[in-house]
Amino acid sequence: MPFYDAIPEDWLEPGCSATVSVDGMPVAIANVDGSYFAFQSLCPHQGTTLGGRPVVDGHIECSQHSSRYEVTTGRCVQASIPDGFNQNLMTFPTRVIDGVVQVQI
Ligand code: FES
Repeated sequence: MPFYDAIPEDWLEPGCSATVSVDGMPVAIANVDGSYFAFQSLCPHQGTTLGGRPVVDGHIECSQHSSRYEVTTGRCVQASIPDGFNQNLMTFPTRVIDGVVQVQI
């Protein structure tokens, strides 16, 4: 599968995330201490947007029901409050080429 340009490397500060379009598909990207990780943009519980949420100690928390995910692996480390839903995030490989973060989808 090919890598696609996503964002300039200096566009996303450490501890931040964003939803971007990668070859027309919405993908969330997080900067964890200068490394970039890509994952599905919508929470698998009920579809709340994850991109744009802060990244704390490598984790992102859904604003809706507090599911928490490890962005480096996609692992759900805290289930949703109301029903214990704990599905992991789908993740995508990334690389940086000539100052551009690329995502493989
Ligand atoms: S929509 Fe994300 S935890 Fe419910």
